[in-house]
Amino acid sequence: MTKLFIICTMKLTLKLSLLGIAAFISSVAFAIIPQPQSVKYGEERFSIRPSTVIAFNDDELRPIAAYMLDYLAVREVTKQAPAENFISVELQPGFAPEAYRLTIGEEGIRIVAGDYGGAFCGVQTLLQMLPSEVYSKQMRLPVKVAFCEVEDAPQFAYRGFMLDVARTWVTTPNVKRYIDWLAYHKINRLHWHLSDDQGWRVEIKSHPELTEQGGYRGGSSPVPPMYGKWHERYGGYYSQSEIREIVEYARVRNIEVIPEIDLPGHSWAFAAVHPEVLCNYEFDKAHLSGGLDTRNVFCATKESNYELLDEVLAEVCALFPSEYIHIGGDEVSLSQWEKCPDCSAYLKRHGYTDAHKVEDYFIERIDKILQKYDKRPAVWNEGINGGGLDKSTRVHGWSNMKDCRKVLEAGYPTIFMPAEYFYFDMRQSKHEAGSNWSNIFDVKHTYSFDFAEHGFSAEQVALVEGFEGAYWSEIALSQGGDRSTDFLEYMTFPRMCAVAELGWGKNGSDWEHFYSRLKGEHYDRMSAMGINYRLIPPKVEYQDGLLSASTDDGSKIYYQLEGSDNVERYLRPIKCDNPAHYLFHSEYHNAHSPQTAHADHYKTIKPAFTLTSSIESGRKDGYKRIEEYRGRVSAARTCRQGDWFLFEFAEPVECRQMEFVTGYTHIAHRVFPSGYLEISYDGKSFEKGAALVDGCAKIIRPSRAIKAVRIVSTTDRNSTHGVVINPPVIKP
Ligand code: ACM
Ligand code: ZN
Repeated sequence: MTKLFIICTMKLTLKLSLLGIAAFISSVAFAIIPQPQSVKYGEERFSIRPSTVIAFNDDELRPIAAYMLDYLAVREVTKQAPAENFISVELQPGFAPEAYRLTIGEEGIRIVAGDYGGAFCGVQTLLQMLPSEVYSKQMRLPVKVAFCEVEDAPQFAYRGFMLDVARTWVTTPNVKRYIDWLAYHKINRLHWHLSDDQGWRVEIKSHPELTEQGGYRGGSSPVPPMYGKWHERYGGYYSQSEIREIVEYARVRNIEVIPEIDLPGHSWAFAAVHPEVLCNYEFDKAHLSGGLDTRNVFCATKESNYELLDEVLAEVCALFPSEYIHIGGDEVSLSQWEKCPDCSAYLKRHGYTDAHKVEDYFIERIDKILQKYDKRPAVWNEGINGGGLDKSTRVHGWSNMKDCRKVLEAGYPTIFMPAEYFYFDMRQSKHEAGSNWSNIFDVKHTYSFDFAEHGFSAEQVALVEGFEGAYWSEIALSQGGDRSTDFLEYMTFPRMCAVAELGWGKNGSDWEHFYSRLKGEHYDRMSAMGINYRLIPPKVEYQDGLLSASTDDGSKIYYQLEGSDNVERYLRPIKCDNPAHYLFHSEYHNAHSPQTAHADHYKTIKPAFTLTSSIESGRKDGYKRIEEYRGRVSAARTCRQGDWFLFEFAEPVECRQMEFVTGYTHIAHRVFPSGYLEISYDGKSFEKGAALVDGCAKIIRPSRAIKAVRIVSTTDRNSTHGVVINPPVIKP
């Protein structure tokens, strides 16, 4: 390899490019995500032509050669690299796991690594040096690529993503699409959340009823619908052959699939099919939940449960080659064990008072089953609460930073994923869709995570196996049903790009540098990959009667008047005296930003009102909390047809919009699943207004001042204990 002449750290490259030297080089140098450890660029370029030959020196790498052929559309794959005009992947001793060297010179391109993962990661770096069309498999040859030498290795062995397919069903082709996107970012683990309260998604040949019944909810299924898709039988499952296909598809792409069977809690769907797994106590169905059995925890003292789970786990272990099986352990409702005569007798017998000890016992029993199949358990951080969890167990720290710290202080090998940085079901800004119980954050926040800033010691960081982004999919069902995979993409990218870079080691990069690579070239790549990623929203300003919007990422800005479907391209500041009425968003290929507006748009008024209902409040002080705009309240039982909430305003309210939300504000859970508004202008006669969608409805631009609004349910039950009701959101 001759003519390698510029030895550059990133900073040096920047200096050179500022001096006008090697301009083409810098644009290539800065755009790789995750940032490699070291890149040296040369002055000249190698041309990939249709005649270029892909070669590999070891049969283990044959799938990587075939993978490259698929993207590059060159003519040939051979085992022996020719003397020139080649792209060669080679195994050689002397490299750390997943480390690689990528050299581009006169003769060709050589990717050398010590293992399959390193060779695959080297290929991903090469793809990012090519025009973005390579990802849509539409790149035309010849293509020139700068001479270079990349020496690279990840800091963390585990760079993962958790996909919840239990709440929202994701088809096999969509899982594969997702695996492709992760692989492009050198993510190497897919933590596949395959079971939860709302669905069981793995075919178990010895227990077909688990998927036949537990794979669906609503309609004729014994699993009731808890959110979204209310009246429809909804769901799906992966056959064992589909699972094998996905596991192999991921393996070729250097991704290990780790299945999660969430035990002993989060098992409502399982228990709906096999109620005998529950604890033996009398459950007050009628009073609490309108005939609904909400118990979702396996009894820990029924021997038959371990026999049944052995049969199930035997098949799961055979399907997945991963060393670890994630067995859940999160959010167990301990009261179910405390009420159980057998589980509480276990506690008593051992002199325990803490029901977490029952979880220790349960996990120990499941661990024994896994050991039979040469597997090890991974659990969520609650798994350590009993104090007896084996120290070699892998723990996923999720609930918050404090619990992650607890896991590391206790000395467990840890997957680091505190929700406030890594839960991508959290909304990305205040007024867009998503959860908010942990935090509201976008890609910049995820990228900014730093162990030192949070006071973790070097010994603690040494226990961190890596990072994991997570997507819990309940809210997806409230975001447009069949478009829910678009929502998944929007919620996870570019935040997953930040996880990729954190896991790789950041390599001295800061946010500005990362963002310049992201919008500079990576947006184009993600567009070609086909990802509906999220853009940072336009900045909206109002001054001297002019409303303006701006972005810094090359996207196009659009606007519309509130309440109108007519969308216009924004080209220049808008002269107006009502900035609150305009909504903006930006688009770039298939990506879009959330809608945003001037701060005035979000202003609300809080007129006095009283709330009455056909359902008693779950609080002693009734609905007072809502009347004082202090937050939501749960009504004491689930809904029946004809149930109502009545808002009566002290004075008629003039406004441009009123919004009424049953259920949580971000997810159709504990809602009136269907119903409508009734509006009164005089407090006596009512006329019918909008229908509820996902438990919510708005009154837009009412013609007169509003005196009262009634929300009426047309559904019996919402598969929960109660109905949540919020104060109205009223825009002046
Ligand atoms: C979790 O979010 N329950 C792991
Ligand atoms: Zn029990």
